[in-house]
Amino acid sequence: MRLGALFLAASVALAPVSSAPAQATAYSDQPPILLGASWYPEQWPESQWEPDLALMEAAHIHLVRIGEFAWSTMEPSEGHYEFGWLDRAIALAAKHHICVVLGTPTAGPPAWLTTKYPDTLRVDENGRRDEHGNRQQFSFASTRYRKFAHAIAEQMAARYGHNPNVVGWQLDNEYAADSFDPEAKSQFHAWLQKKYGTIANLNHHWATAYWSQTYDNFDEIPVRSKEENPALLLEWKRFVSDTWKSYSENQIDAIRPHADKRQFITTNTMGWFDGFDEYVVHSVLDIAAWDDYISTDHYDAADNGARHDLTRGFKQKNFWVMETEPAFVNWRPTNTPLEKGQVRDMAWQAIGHGSDAVEYWQWRSAPNGQEEYHGVLLGIDGKPVPVYDEVKQVGAEFEKAGPALAGTSPHSSVAIIQSYDSRWAIDFQRHSAAFDPVKELVSFYRPLRDQTQAVDILSPDASLDSYKLVVAPALNVLPQSMADRLIAYVKAGGHLVLGPRSGMKDEYNALNPQRQPGPLADLLGAKVSQFYALDEAVPVGGDPGNGTANIWAETLAPTLETFAPGPDAPRVLLTYGPSNGWLDNQPAAITRTVGKGSITYIGAWLDQPLLDSLTTQFVHDAGVQPILPGVPDGVEVCQRTGSGKTILILINHTTSNQRVKLPHAMTDLLQSGTVSSVDLPKYGVAVLQN
Ligand code: GLA
Ligand code: GLA
Repeated sequence: MRLGALFLAASVALAPVSSAPAQATAYSDQPPILLGASWYPEQWPESQWEPDLALMEAAHIHLVRIGEFAWSTMEPSEGHYEFGWLDRAIALAAKHHICVVLGTPTAGPPAWLTTKYPDTLRVDENGRRDEHGNRQQFSFASTRYRKFAHAIAEQMAARYGHNPNVVGWQLDNEYAADSFDPEAKSQFHAWLQKKYGTIANLNHHWATAYWSQTYDNFDEIPVRSKEENPALLLEWKRFVSDTWKSYSENQIDAIRPHADKRQFITTNTMGWFDGFDEYVVHSVLDIAAWDDYISTDHYDAADNGARHDLTRGFKQKNFWVMETEPAFVNWRPTNTPLEKGQVRDMAWQAIGHGSDAVEYWQWRSAPNGQEEYHGVLLGIDGKPVPVYDEVKQVGAEFEKAGPALAGTSPHSSVAIIQSYDSRWAIDFQRHSAAFDPVKELVSFYRPLRDQTQAVDILSPDASLDSYKLVVAPALNVLPQSMADRLIAYVKAGGHLVLGPRSGMKDEYNALNPQRQPGPLADLLGAKVSQFYALDEAVPVGGDPGNGTANIWAETLAPTLETFAPGPDAPRVLLTYGPSNGWLDNQPAAITRTVGKGSITYIGAWLDQPLLDSLTTQFVHDAGVQPILPGVPDGVEVCQRTGSGKTILILINHTTSNQRVKLPHAMTDLLQSGTVSSVDLPKYGVAVLQN
């Protein structure tokens, strides 16, 4: 831990056990922490199923996800259903103590469907209709497609909704591709009409006098996802979010009446993917689940941990990893493998961040198809590949530690606000090409996670009451209603930190009438006087330390006339050094104490060491303690509590041995026995109970 020294004097008692909601799923007859794989029985002769399932069982795999691409096998011709094979596959899995998540197969419509009803095919932004042969070729807005989706989902639910071996449902697969077909367009118009009421109201909020964009009626409005009025672009994204939500509801309505309550309904999401607002779609799902593929050439544990925390925030409870890579994928320019040991490291990181299941994609190489090179656990010959043994070890460990982890979840007193509206608004008009809002969020997440060892990533609508420190890295879209909640949070003693570009836009992606941070400027007692894109580092410094601003710099001006000088006056934290003249000696960050709380605005994208020093100060001022102080750099600490238990998961992401001293003796759940320190080899993991 980079800033470990600061916390050595802090209390060494572990954080108290909380009674907040715990596991995503809990089945009395299934292991509490499930290891699984994606299995495609429809691709294989039935004679292969039994040996495959036996090898799964031997690896302690207790879960398969099946069916999500099997529509042409389930419904080989219109209205003619074939479920005998699926009955037998589920029953055979049960025989091997393997439960099932059923995927509705709607990400891959059969050829007969799209051939007979070409209007169900999606249309891209350039007006080109898709064709059969790949996947995701349907229009998410098509009424006809939804009828077929409803029918197949209902058939499946009527058959498996009470099957004791089916634990849940995955809707479709990785929602992603919106469609610009005529039906979607007219739905967008109706959606806008419902929201704005009159075209005059829309013209007003979109300021359409600009470039003579004024609309006479809703039907004139184009559908575009780029190079348009930023108000239109933002509303298109919101329409897409609502359309995926109703796409989900269509299938939920088909499944829920037939399904036992214990069967969850989810879909598999994709980390930072921002094609729609995940909070909107998750409002109708039971649990969150995601597909954890590393987003860089090599495993970046902090970024991966942030994506777990993001996913946990979709429902603010434990989640599932519905897919993850058995060492490598097939879709990067160079598909380098995870190193030996990192597959296990990643599996335990998922559990540490609140996942209750880890499933590998995929079980066995498909005989053909677009993904022949993808990582697997079994080769085409039905024999294990080298990573099988590492996964088997993970399975054995999940079995061992599972009972202790049952009913536990992570808890944090630090939250980062993640706003899709703000990410979209910045991405539509980055102004500085390098200003990636996700990278900016992660630059705050890294030190906060290191310093506190528990961070929640939340929707702007989430309650902030239980958090000591709330960080909004670039809360660009800040409507008055959200500002009111943030003001109440600070006045109640909360510590709020805003990053650059916060408070610039209103709900309609129009400029807030007051300069940044708009409706929070009065509380801050300061506002942004100008923003500047940077292509070289600018010196910046103050009490928290010295460093550089990069990519983005805003000058701040205290609005001192509103406040008498004194302890409540805004205080300059950082000042720019000499550069382009505009920035020289101007405030870069300002903070103001508000009763027991505070509001801070950071106007620049700071280099990582300087931001780390700043967050050290914020964490300290907010009275947040790390879970386990004094841990070596590169060792991640995760804590799950609940049901009267406290479990620590320690992961050594480095390539050298690390020793971690514990505040008191703890039970080692993987090695057994009681320990007061642990030695973690390269990529080593320890799971400890208080
Ligand atoms: C051109 C256009 C203006 C404006 C400016 C912005 O000159 O004529 O309308 O868009 O670019 O730089
Ligand atoms: C996604 C999909 C899977 C598979 C994997 C490969 O997660 O959901 O069907 O294509 O990617 O990495």
